[in-house]
Amino acid sequence: MTNYVNQNIKPLNTKINEKGNLEISGCDLTELAKEYKTPLYVMDKNTLLKMAQDYKDAFSNYPKTRMLFASKALMTGAIAQILHNCGFGFDVVSMGEIYTLLNAKIPLDNVSFNGNNKSYEELKFALENNIDHISVDNFYELELLDKVAKEQNKIQKIHLRITPGIECHTHEYIQTGQTDSKFGFDLSMLDKAINLILNDYKNLKLAGLHAHIGSQIFETQVYYDEAKIILEEIKKIKDKFNLELNEINLGGGLGITYTKEDNPPSVYEIAQVIIKSINENCERLGLEKPLLYIEPGRSLVCSAGVSLYTIGSTKEIEGIRKYIAIDGGMADNPRPSMYGAKYSAEIANKKETIKNEKVTIAGKFCESGDILIKDIELNNPKTGDILCVYDTGAYCYSMSSNYNCVLKPAMVLIEDSKAKLIIKRQTLEQLVQNDVI
Ligand code: LLP
Repeated sequence: MTNYVNQNIKPLNTKINEKGNLEISGCDLTELAKEYKTPLYVMDKNTLLKMAQDYKDAFSNYPKTRMLFASKALMTGAIAQILHNCGFGFDVVSMGEIYTLLNAKIPLDNVSFNGNNKSYEELKFALENNIDHISVDNFYELELLDKVAKEQNKIQKIHLRITPGIECHTHEYIQTGQTDSKFGFDLSMLDKAINLILNDYKNLKLAGLHAHIGSQIFETQVYYDEAKIILEEIKKIKDKFNLELNEINLGGGLGITYTKEDNPPSVYEIAQVIIKSINENCERLGLEKPLLYIEPGRSLVCSAGVSLYTIGSTKEIEGIRKYIAIDGGMADNPRPSMYGAKYSAEIANKKETIKNEKVTIAGKFCESGDILIKDIELNNPKTGDILCVYDTGAYCYSMSSNYNCVLKPAMVLIEDSKAKLIIKRQTLEQLVQNDVI
């Protein structure tokens, strides 16, 4: 265990209790599975708060920092309220995410709306609810947003989303002149966009530039370069248009430890590099230090979450493989089948001594590709056992589906050694509620 949440596989305070069961922050996972049934998403508030605090501490020597939670990683009212109370704002990408915030009584005064194809209705809804700013992605959106702002008699603050020409592949990155991405303005398009904003789109006020260079990033230098490139663009804009933009948004991307092979930096290392780049490059270019936005998603919530499943059928193919099947899979965690993502897991209810067995964990969905974990050593897994899969706090519930008409799981939050329900299990009635016969 290290001190940094994103460098640990398990939530803080995960241990084997006197009954021989896995527990998190005083909650016995086997008991939780019994009470709330499986599959079950479990979030640990302690771990979440620690990571949020680490983010705040890491950036504390750059006081002009605003942290936005990239809510696509995990959007629920209860989690949003916790992060809101910690001082986080939000990065949203749809009307649904905005609505979920409003439903949790969270105002939009520290919210950024990004995405490459926002609709008229979405922009209208965002402005009607006084969103802080929109990260405009393309020329079409500039025109559309100016129209929406005009209709509402508003001058809307915006950032321009740019592709800074840095492409990250978890362990390495390449810098190219041109990035092939569906998101944002290529650097060569910026002049035209700014000309339009300054001359034609009178209801838009450009405040800064925004970029996001990838996800599950293990590099630090890449953040230095990202800030450098954005500040260089700001300098060019200052010289050309006599306009000094004073906000930058560097996106999210910090990686986490899903398995022993993963080796992400801590948030302190990332913060140091970003702050160093801002200080050095602002000095070099003669710029004021900007307001800095960051948008962590995965690294904030992922390690605080685990998924519990019950083992059902098993199938042994002599000399080849033993499959154990769980009561969930690709509908509640599509990441292994979508990205080949790897996870760590343990049996939550084992008293007896370790008898390791190499198995493959199969989901219950009708696809051969629905394999949650290939070749994992588990402690004598048997039908009826509870399996705990770690690091499912991000991009699992938020990417879940009703494939095969299987109901979406419930989610509980562990707080003060007790669990409380924060998402109810979906019901059969809800499953067919939009069905018109
Ligand atoms: N900001 C922007 C503009 C983004 O597009 C994203 C993620 C983030 C922030 C947050 O990035 P994070 O800190 O979570 O890496 N479904 C994929 C991940 C997709 C990330 C999309 N954008 C997965 O499960 O790995």
